[in-house]
Amino acid sequence: MENVSLDRREFLKKAGVAGAAAIFLASPWLSVFSDSKYTDKSVVKLGIIGPGSRGRYLMQFLANNKKADIVALCDIYQPSLDEALKIAPNAKTYKDYRYLLEDKNIDAVVIATPLNTHCQIALDAFDAGKHVFCEKSIGFTMEECFAMYNKHKSSGKIFFSGQQRLFDPRYIKAMEMIHQGTFGDIQAIRTFWFRNGDWRRDVPAPELERQINWRLYREYSKGLMTELACHQLQIGSWALKSIPNKVMGHGAITHWKDGREVYDNVNCIYVFDNGQKLTFESVISNKFYGLEEQILGTLGTVEPEKGKYYFENVAPAPGFLRLINDVENKLFETLPFAGTSWAPETANKNEGDYILGDKPKSDGSDLMMDAYVEAVITRKQPVNVAEEGYYASALTLLGDMAIEKGEILTFPDQFKLDYLNHRKTVIS
Ligand SMILES: NC(=O)c1ccc[n+]([C@@H]2O[C@H](COP(=O)([O-])OP(=O)(O)OC[C@H]3O[C@@H](n4cnc5c(N)ncnc54)[C@H](O)[C@@H]3O)[C@@H](O)[C@H]2O)c1
Repeated sequence: MENVSLDRREFLKKAGVAGAAAIFLASPWLSVFSDSKYTDKSVVKLGIIGPGSRGRYLMQFLANNKKADIVALCDIYQPSLDEALKIAPNAKTYKDYRYLLEDKNIDAVVIATPLNTHCQIALDAFDAGKHVFCEKSIGFTMEECFAMYNKHKSSGKIFFSGQQRLFDPRYIKAMEMIHQGTFGDIQAIRTFWFRNGDWRRDVPAPELERQINWRLYREYSKGLMTELACHQLQIGSWALKSIPNKVMGHGAITHWKDGREVYDNVNCIYVFDNGQKLTFESVISNKFYGLEEQILGTLGTVEPEKGKYYFENVAPAPGFLRLINDVENKLFETLPFAGTSWAPETANKNEGDYILGDKPKSDGSDLMMDAYVEAVITRKQPVNVAEEGYYASALTLLGDMAIEKGEILTFPDQFKLDYLNHRKTVIS
């Protein structure tokens, strides 16, 4: 029977994103799958720390991977443990992660606890000799992110973070096209994440409010920045092969005035060295536009979340052109200031093309977990995976600080990794 990782490789191939050298240049971490046929008989023993909503989602992929065995679970909240046991019924359970880390049988951990706890747990896990997958954002401060990254380097252990778009076939293919110059020079990246909901979880007893709704309180979370912007910043620097150096922003609570401390309405502008910009906008009281990263080049636009791209100049079919002219003339001929050469500068109606032929089969989370398991088995840290996660988190936190201080902030040199030079050569 074929093992799961080979299936995943096949999947990538079928999705049209494997095999081409350009793919591996744009997404070098995918080479993690290249040794998978040699690792068929190996099994990674895993401990899941914080099997809440996200942790259990990730567990499902691990439970389906024959090379992964979830042997331990740790959570401070019994209902989370009970739910997790339904996925991994034979796992040992713990209430304190430090006891889980003492278990020499465990090779690797998955950390999916609230943000404020990630760093200490990850540092302790590295010290205990475990490989670490930590959900994004990795740290609560830039200092924490830096400490985690450095501990990964000094321990020599595998380090992944929950940046599943790195393994999402739509994004992988989009980045290949971007890096090949298909859309010209990328000038700007507009990212947004809109929802309409209060972001609250049901709380069985009032004293559990902060523990369960940790996202809403600044002691545990930096709100929309660390929860959502983190993913989109990773896309920006992946597309532009560099990180922005400056950020300014604003946040407010404009709708959900229910005692929360994190903003429900946030905008940030990140500026790259040559003036290109990435904007992030998030409002959770209107979901009309959903979520997207709109990557704008001189020749075209990519929307990887939708899985589509659009060229700037597409000659419409003559009949279609006539139809548009007719509509425009009927619509605008009565306007006194509308001369014949004038046309409304409304959005391009070009329907574009799909990045991949098929509808997306995966958001990358399954491949990401398979990649983690492969990396633990082969003991090979995939190129740039930890760095992508580090910078996404650090930039998110810099944005949050800019909002809090009401200042334009520059990325501190002390938190830059040598990797920036390395990145230019690997992702070229
Ligand atoms: N990559 C993604 O797309 C994605 C999506 C959702 C969430 N996340 C991330 O996953 C993490 C968890 O989010 P969630 O929505 O699952 O939250 P959650 O509240 O549903 O789950 C967190 C779990 O951790 C447990 N916990 C808290 N402190 C603990 C500790 N000290 N030791 C052990 N367990 C502890 C909680 O009891 C809970 O069961 C966050 O960092 C979040 O940003 C990532």
